[in-house]
Amino acid sequence: MTEGRGPDLERLRRLRDLFLDATGAPRAVAAYWQSDEDLAAYDAVFAARIGWKWDAALEDAIARGFAPGNGLHVVDFGCGTGIAARRFAARFDVSEVRCVDHSARAAAFAAARLRDERPQVATSAAMPGPHDADPDVLLISHVLDELGPSTEDALLELAARSKHVVWVEPGSRVVSRRLATHRDHLVANAGFSIVAPCPHQGPCSALRADGSHWCHFFASPPAEVFTDGDWVRLGRELGIDLRALPYASLVLSRAPSGDLASVGRVLARPEVSGKEARVFVCDAEGLHHLAAFKSRGSADAWRTLKKAGSGLRDVRVERDGAKLRAIEPLHASDQPQS
Ligand SMILES: C[S@@+](CC[C@H](N)C(=O)[O-])C[C@H]1O[C@@H](n2cnc3c(N)ncnc32)[C@H](O)[C@@H]1O
Repeated sequence: MTEGRGPDLERLRRLRDLFLDATGAPRAVAAYWQSDEDLAAYDAVFAARIGWKWDAALEDAIARGFAPGNGLHVVDFGCGTGIAARRFAARFDVSEVRCVDHSARAAAFAAARLRDERPQVATSAAMPGPHDADPDVLLISHVLDELGPSTEDALLELAARSKHVVWVEPGSRVVSRRLATHRDHLVANAGFSIVAPCPHQGPCSALRADGSHWCHFFASPPAEVFTDGDWVRLGRELGIDLRALPYASLVLSRAPSGDLASVGRVLARPEVSGKEARVFVCDAEGLHHLAAFKSRGSADAWRTLKKAGSGLRDVRVERDGAKLRAIEPLHASDQPQS
C-alpha cells in the first residue's frame, strides 16, 4: 500500500464514519467527495477492500460460465473511484466504460484511474441521467443505501435496459435483502436469468424465509493485508476487521438458464464447534439450515465444514431432514486444504 497512510487517517475516519452511519434504509446522500485527496485515500483503502469483493463475485460468476462477450460497453453506476470497472476490465474484453456518479469529481477521478490502468479502453465521466446507449454490462457497487427512491427506480430501469448486470453490495442484512428484492423484480419483469450466486431461478429463498436471513458471502483478502505493516496499522487505527469482507452479489444475464440440478449454495460461512457444524445451504427447494455432527455419522461433513471456513460456494449435499450427511465442494478451488 502506498497511499492512505498517516496523513490521510483523518480523511479516512471521516469517510468511514459516513459509510458506517448507513442504516441500510434508502436515503439520498449529498455528494461527499470534497477533494481528489478524499478519492485517493478512499481508493487506497476502502475501494481496495471492495475490489477484493469484486474479485470474489466475478470469479464466482466465471465459475458459473459468465461470458458477456467482447468489445463490451460498460456503465459503472455510482462509480466512486471506479474500482468495479477496473476489476471488471481486468477480466473481460471491455472497449468502453462510462463512469457515472452524481459527484462530477468522482466520475472524472474514476475515468482517469481507469485510463491509467487500461489506456486501450475508451473512458468517459457522466452525471446520472438518460443514457444515449443501453449498456452491455451495468456495474453497481456499494450504492444501494445511498440512493433516494427516484434514483433507485431510475437505476432499476437502467438495469432493465442492460444485457448483463453485475451488482456487489455490503453483506449487511438490510442491504442484502433489498438487493434480493431487486433480484426478484428484475428476474420477474425484465427477462433476466441469474448467473450467480443463486443455484435456482425461483424467488429468493432467504427473502421468503423469516426476516433474520440474508444472502451474503465472505471474500478473502490477500495475504499482504496480514503481513504489510501499513495495513495492520490502518486496520487497528480505523477499527476495521481486516479479515472480514462480507458482501452480497448478483449477476444477471439474458441467456436463459435453468435451476442447477442438485447444486446447493453455501451462504455466509459455517458455524463450527468441537462437536457439530451448522451451515445454511440454498437450493431450488429453499433455504436449509443443516447440521453435521462429529460423532453421529456425519464426521466427514463436519470435517469439511471445519476446514473450509468461508471458502465454500457451490456444493452437493446429502441431507436427512436438517441433518447434513455429506457435503462435496464443486469447485476445485473450494476444496479445503488438509
Ligand atoms: C460508497 S460509494 C461507492 C463507490 C464505488 N461504487 C465503490 O464501490 O467503491 C457510493 C457512490 O455512489 C455515489 N452516489 C450516491 N448517490 C448517487 C446518485 N443519486 N446518483 C449517482 N451516484 C450516486 C456517491 O457519490 C459515491 O461515489
